Amino acid sequence: MIIDNHGRTIDYLRLAVTDRCNLRCFYCMPEDGIQFLKKDALLSYEELLRLMRLLAQEGISKIRITGGEPFLRKDLVSFLENLSAIEGINKIAITTNGTITLRHLDALVHMGIRSFNLSIDSIDKARFEKITRRDSFDEVWSCFEQMSAREDIELKLNCVVMADQNIEDIIPMVRLTQEKNISVRFIEEMPFNGDGKFNKETHWNYIKILQHIESTFGKAIKLDDGKNSTSLNYGLEGFAGSFGIIPAYTRSFCGSCNRLRLTPQGSIKTCLYDDGIFNIRDIMRAGATDNEIIAAVKEACSHRAKDGFEAEAKRKINPHVSESMATIGG
Ligand code: 5AD
Ligand code: SF4
Repeated sequence: MIIDNHGRTIDYLRLAVTDRCNLRCFYCMPEDGIQFLKKDALLSYEELLRLMRLLAQEGISKIRITGGEPFLRKDLVSFLENLSAIEGINKIAITTNGTITLRHLDALVHMGIRSFNLSIDSIDKARFEKITRRDSFDEVWSCFEQMSAREDIELKLNCVVMADQNIEDIIPMVRLTQEKNISVRFIEEMPFNGDGKFNKETHWNYIKILQHIESTFGKAIKLDDGKNSTSLNYGLEGFAGSFGIIPAYTRSFCGSCNRLRLTPQGSIKTCLYDDGIFNIRDIMRAGATDNEIIAAVKEACSHRAKDGFEAEAKRKINPHVSESMATIGG
């Protein structure tokens, strides 16, 4: 078991398999992209599987695959096949932008991967294309339609709420949950955008998002959030699905955090807001034994920041959060 210095059990890993993306969401990446990693800088699938077996033995039971856009990494589906066979890994979930996901869906469901978070910040084609700076709305929308029509898939939509960009989408996106049994989650925007510029005056926090929704639909019904949830979940009378609000910038959920993060280049993060505690790829390539690898992870978790504010204050390289989310996986 991995238990941190605040008594929190770590049983969930967010694994970013690539920093590449085929969209350029302005809140995540600069227009001309970022300096993408070379292939040998990435942890190979063999290295990842070794690490995942070790972590599973230490009680990591849930893995979320993120990116960049995970399906841009070559042979991801065969990697997932091997990952899903590891004893102790009970749940694999995927966060995807939906541009090229559909072609893999049957294979994924077949291997037991049924939980998908689709990032979609607008359901209006023009606004979507302005936010993502790419012309992919039709692919993403058909991904949404096909996934939401399947009963063997648990679908959540992720929508980053941004002043002057997609406020008009909030109400129509909540309406999607009237007929469909999905959850739409509104995420507070964070400064992980590749340049760190951020306007606090216009920022929509979770309270403002909830008030906005309730001003149209009336008082929402608070649902049970579950033990380690980052979202505050709500339902509306007569609606098949639900909505959630993620206070990603307010950071009010840190007390129950059970997450560890691994970036594509092997940096272990014990908080989204830290800038990497150590590089596990480097110690593996230098010949670390299984015991040494696990000891290094446990050591990192034994001085874990208590919340995202402390983690941000302890950053070593850039004092302020500014790196692209595509490099850390969210
Ligand atoms: N602020 C909030 N959420 C972000 N994401 C990416 N960048 C940011 C940001 N700056 C979201 C993506 C995806 C999830 C993994 O993180 O939209 O849904
Ligand atoms: Fe790609 Fe996701 Fe970043 Fe958009 S937010 S550019 S989809 S990694």
